[in-house]
Amino acid sequence: MQGQFITLEGTEGGGKSTNLRFIESFLTEQGMDVVVTREPGGTEIGEAVRAILLNNDFSAMCDDAELLLMFAARVQHIQEKIKPALAAGKWVISDRFTDATYAYQGGARGLDMQRIAQIEQWVQQGFQPNLTFIFDLPVEIGMARVLARSQQSGQGIDRFEQEKRSFFEKVRATYLARAQQSPERYEVLDASQPLASVQQTIQTRLQNFL
Ligand code: TMP
Repeated sequence: MQGQFITLEGTEGGGKSTNLRFIESFLTEQGMDVVVTREPGGTEIGEAVRAILLNNDFSAMCDDAELLLMFAARVQHIQEKIKPALAAGKWVISDRFTDATYAYQGGARGLDMQRIAQIEQWVQQGFQPNLTFIFDLPVEIGMARVLARSQQSGQGIDRFEQEKRSFFEKVRATYLARAQQSPERYEVLDASQPLASVQQTIQTRLQNFL
């Protein structure tokens, strides 16, 4: 079977990282060659762009610059890493991709969705994930988890995590609206459920997919 491209999305604190490792182990057990990656980032250049995007010192960054940096990191990621891996028959799992741009820069920052779609077309030329998991949960639960994690690690919060609740409500609503528009590509998970139950749903969807 040809390699497949799976993406994980959602507001902060939905358990994407834990479940990414679960998906990786499950697919590896099924004999797939798996590449795990993330956005913004995934390549040396993309990770350098990520450091700019998440840097709290750059509060002056305008929304259009943020949008273009997301796509700059993405086009490098697609050309250098994602497409070559898929062509070699590998499965690629990415922690976020273009749905995040619609949700954060479109829904939450308020940039024109048509303009995002034009840049997406220019950069991706129809290239899309085969399957997208959305880790959905009430914003206040996610924000509390992020806060607890940052206090535990002492790392502080990044330029996006410091946004207000209303920002993440818009992110969440945009993800859900996109999933409703094209239900065949998305699996919306109730990330407020116990981990075992979330992982059961993920496993069932992956089994159907295989
Ligand atoms: P992460 O916290 O999931 O690693 O993602 C980094 C942040 O970047 C997260 O707050 C969401 C944001 N982001 C966007 O705003 N637009 C995008 O296109 C992507 C990929 C991420």
